[in-house]
Amino acid sequence: MLPDPDELAGRVLCQVKDLATTKAKDVIIKNGDEQYSIMVVQWKGDIRAFVNSCPHARVPLNMLGDTFFDLTGSYLLCTTHGAHFRPTDGYCTRGPCRGKSLRPFPIEVVGTDIVVVPKA
Ligand code: FES
Repeated sequence: MLPDPDELAGRVLCQVKDLATTKAKDVIIKNGDEQYSIMVVQWKGDIRAFVNSCPHARVPLNMLGDTFFDLTGSYLLCTTHGAHFRPTDGYCTRGPCRGKSLRPFPIEVVGTDIVVVPKA
């Protein structure tokens, strides 16, 4: 089951400085017995988060660590299949899930923290 932002509202995912090196952070959220991976990404100054699960095979995009962007730094990349996702809205432009989107995860920047907010 996917994480419910309403249950996690107010939780700090990471800090803005954690995005400095790769422009992304793989954040594992534990909620009771379950755990989820959320990717927090920074692109052209904007910070967004998505559930780290490809819409077609439900596997994480990253193989390891905080590397989510392709070599151009313009797309989020599924390292297993090479699918490309726009960092602005998670839309897949190339690969087996073309036309589908990553699930956005609502966050806001509060000072130096990146915090979960309730669904809009
Ligand atoms: S799991 Fe869907 S493109 Fe890799």
